[in-house]
Amino acid sequence: MKVLILGVNGFIGSHLSQRIIKDTTWEVYGMDLGVDKLGWVLDHDRFHFVEGDISINKEWIEYHIKKCDVVLPLVAIATPKSYIENPLGVFELDFEENLRVIRQCVRYKKRVIFPSTSEVYGMCSDPSFDEYKSNLILGPINKQRWIYSCSKQLMDRVIWAYGSRGELDFTLMRPFNWIGPRLDSIETAKEGSSRVVTQFIASLVYKEPIILVDGGKQSRSFTYIDDGIDAIMKIIENEGGRATGQIFNLGNPANNCTIKDLAYRLLDMFKNHPKHKNDDRYSEIRVQDAKTFYGDSYQDIYTRVPSIDEAKEILGWEPKTGLDDALRLTLDAFLEEAG
Ligand code: UGA
Repeated sequence: MKVLILGVNGFIGSHLSQRIIKDTTWEVYGMDLGVDKLGWVLDHDRFHFVEGDISINKEWIEYHIKKCDVVLPLVAIATPKSYIENPLGVFELDFEENLRVIRQCVRYKKRVIFPSTSEVYGMCSDPSFDEYKSNLILGPINKQRWIYSCSKQLMDRVIWAYGSRGELDFTLMRPFNWIGPRLDSIETAKEGSSRVVTQFIASLVYKEPIILVDGGKQSRSFTYIDDGIDAIMKIIENEGGRATGQIFNLGNPANNCTIKDLAYRLLDMFKNHPKHKNDDRYSEIRVQDAKTFYGDSYQDIYTRVPSIDEAKEILGWEPKTGLDDALRLTLDAFLEEAG
């Protein structure tokens, strides 16, 4: 099998490439702006990398869509701070650039696995989100945070519509707060634009305050990257066509915890870490309101728990990594990288 991964050097792309090369005989063709997350896989003879930008290197992409069996368009801006600072950039990259790829998958009859997002459920108040029953609830237009959710939702609907006309073999997957080594970077966290786990780890490393937005009572169901990759592998394998035309929430409901709880767990792990247990001081935990932290056009999501019945029944997938193990593995990897 030939797998095309656009955004191959991202958090999901890099882990997925390593798994494919390690566990299968498939070929991976990948494009990205850089290579810093790819590691050993770059030198493998079944891994074919080209440095490029999906908005520029269009011919390479079209040629490889024709050549490959399955396409994973993973290029996206996916950090809440950028939804507010660069909403049009989010729309242009996450929707417009990816739409061209989807249309080429239709034209060349290629299977596409599209990364939707837990964010499409928005402020849905269901105790757990169901792919086919939950409403997708977004705030007003002046709350620009929702442009990401809305762009992803529209793409889900476009893909679904092509699929319902029998013109596209697709799967929509919805990661729920996947965490692990290489999630964003400590460098982007310095500018305050990483997702929360990396942001908190960077604060611990640099002895800066950990900020709980609005007190940290909002919760997320943190999912370890290796568990997520297990699910994507089953979706790519697509035994008997079982993943075709389906939407899967890919998250770990057992790991649901508040942001405040997350901060205290990470602080505790850091204080007990062999490299840091003798540090002379540690980050303090502070509270800040969302308007000060993100600006006026932010709105938060207070609860986000996935129903994973579809993935369990259809794919035979279940996450295995508990919250503390997931956090410890993530923390260890970042501390290793920080030296
Ligand atoms: C994320 C991102 O939109 C995407 O990565 C993705 O599509 C999706 O959700 C997902 O990973 O499932 P969110 O969970 O809100 O959105 O992103 P984080 O930046 O990780 O924030 C999580 C929570 O922590 C938010 O409530 C935020 O207000 C809070 N936070 C964040 C803090 O309290 N302090 C911080 O320093 C950063």
